Amino acid sequence: MCRSTVSRAAAACVLALAAAGTARAADCREGPGDWRAGGAIYHRTCVACHGADGRGARRGVPDLTSGVMAYSSTSLAAHIERGFRAPGRPLAMPPKGGNPDLTADDVINVIAYLHHAFGCG
Ligand code: HEC
Repeated sequence: MCRSTVSRAAAACVLALAAAGTARAADCREGPGDWRAGGAIYHRTCVACHGADGRGARRGVPDLTSGVMAYSSTSLAAHIERGFRAPGRPLAMPPKGGNPDLTADDVINVIAYLHHAFGCG
């Protein structure tokens, strides 16, 4: 359907894709957590490395707007809570972004903010 050169079919295709995109974004953005509370945490604890736009403020920090946020919340929460460093990467993600006071709820809220601000992958 999407390869059709007939303009009406092509328009229907664009609409279908737009609807599918919206549905996926809504699923992701309506996850648990309070994104406003998470935003305050992000701008206090994470922004120095990840940048206000999520694209990474230092070498070795991944662009959160291009694919990373498609990972499951369970995986993201584990990486944020415990920190990680993938083989060969120049810089580690520190546990809790370097703030040991972050609670499990804070982590859920900050993931809600990441989805809200940077999308769903
Ligand atoms: C000292 C710099 C630094 C700080 C502070 C920091 N990060 Fe990271 N973060 C990194 C680096 C570096 C990576 C990539 C590590 C790798 O790929 O090996 C990363 C990766 C991530 C990822 C990708 C996870 C994945 O599974 O690929 C997420 C999400 C993330 N950080 C969220 C956060 C949040 C939320 C905070 C604040 C609570 C935070 N980071 C604070 C440096 C930082």
